[in-house]
Amino acid sequence: MASNKDRDLLAHVGPGTPMGGMLRQYWMPAAKSAEFKADGDPVRLKLLGEELIGFRDSAGRVGVMDHRCPHRCASLFFGRNEEGGLRCVYHGWKFDADGKCLDMANVPPHQDFKHKVHAKAYKTAERNGLVWVFMGDQANVPALPQIEATLVAESDNHIDMFMRECNWLQALEGDLDTSHVGFLHGGHRVVKDYQDDDVARYGVLRRDPEYALAETPWGATYGAYRPAGEGQTYWRIGQFMFPFWSITPSAPFGLQVYARAWVPLDDTHTMSFRIVWREGRMKGVKNETTDPNVALSSGKLLPNTTDWLGRYRLAANKDNDYLIDRDVQCTQTYSGIDGISQQDQCVTESMGSLTDWDFEHLAPSDRMITTMRRRLMGALKSVQDGARPPMADTPEVYYQARGGYFEAPEGIEMMKLYAQKVEETRATIPYAVAAE
Ligand code: FES
Ligand SMILES: [Fe+2]
Repeated sequence: MASNKDRDLLAHVGPGTPMGGMLRQYWMPAAKSAEFKADGDPVRLKLLGEELIGFRDSAGRVGVMDHRCPHRCASLFFGRNEEGGLRCVYHGWKFDADGKCLDMANVPPHQDFKHKVHAKAYKTAERNGLVWVFMGDQANVPALPQIEATLVAESDNHIDMFMRECNWLQALEGDLDTSHVGFLHGGHRVVKDYQDDDVARYGVLRRDPEYALAETPWGATYGAYRPAGEGQTYWRIGQFMFPFWSITPSAPFGLQVYARAWVPLDDTHTMSFRIVWREGRMKGVKNETTDPNVALSSGKLLPNTTDWLGRYRLAANKDNDYLIDRDVQCTQTYSGIDGISQQDQCVTESMGSLTDWDFEHLAPSDRMITTMRRRLMGALKSVQDGARPPMADTPEVYYQARGGYFEAPEGIEMMKLYAQKVEETRATIPYAVAAE
């Protein structure tokens, strides 16, 4: 029986914690590329409990480093982003994107020891509009994960971000808890809300799915299944991918390429990176938004501030009860809260910043959550015994993970069906480029 002791082992991510050590061995999305302008303002970033700054140098390279200047610890956030590096405003020391000290301006040349000083910089990478950071062993940096959605060209993908005020595990678990969709997001829906050929209507006919689960090389796969048409089953297949990625079955299988990272900023704040490409013929689904203050999945955002935790905050939040409208709750929607992400934000943050595992009563509908916790705990134990974490050295395997819903003849084993669907739909997705 899992307890809060287990929870703390999995949820805490700061330097020196077991999970913090494991997560540092993975590449993590940290920002959108567009957040950093060449020679522009440094941006405060928080990742795994560390206070960092990010900037783009004159040549376009992104640097991410401890915000403290290695001279006397003044914050490089206030630095001058000058030709080829960031200069501390206290005594003028200058650092390039790799953390190398280029200039020790307040020390005479014969006393200069700049070749011995480094800012604490982390390896960065950019691909298709995302900035990635690797905070583990800087001498042994793995390749970026080949998660399908992250391979979609920047011109064709949509990346939206928002911050959730709870620990990363709790946020991730919301994506693996699929039975809530029929209540929180769709409890007000009835069959006639759906077109006759839309298999999603079976989710309304039965709000109590059963589950098939499989442990997979990338993490775990679930299929929530219900009876559908004569001799048919309605499947909703989703994924957990090490260490903090999910794919939810939020579209017909093959019409969407999707992944979400729940990146821990610290123990109680998490950034959602939702990366999606949708097939244009999907009805009623908005593919793009040009408003920088609107995240596609999460509605209005507050203006970003320069605070460590000031980026991508929802306008509907705990301070205004997520703008719940009790009249709407009585007459129109199940929750009375507008927007899928706001609804998720409300229930997940309302659980507290660290869910009390000693208080909860997990049900058969939570089997994917228990499977994911067990997979993470197993990985953590083997990492503590000296093993490499799952998937850290096999980035190409992520490419096999996809999610979605469909109807299929009853009685076929989930992973067999899954392999068939992946095979059938791989070629129909123009952006599903072969793994590099
Ligand atoms: S503290 Fe940064 S140069 Fe002195
Ligand atoms: Fe949800």
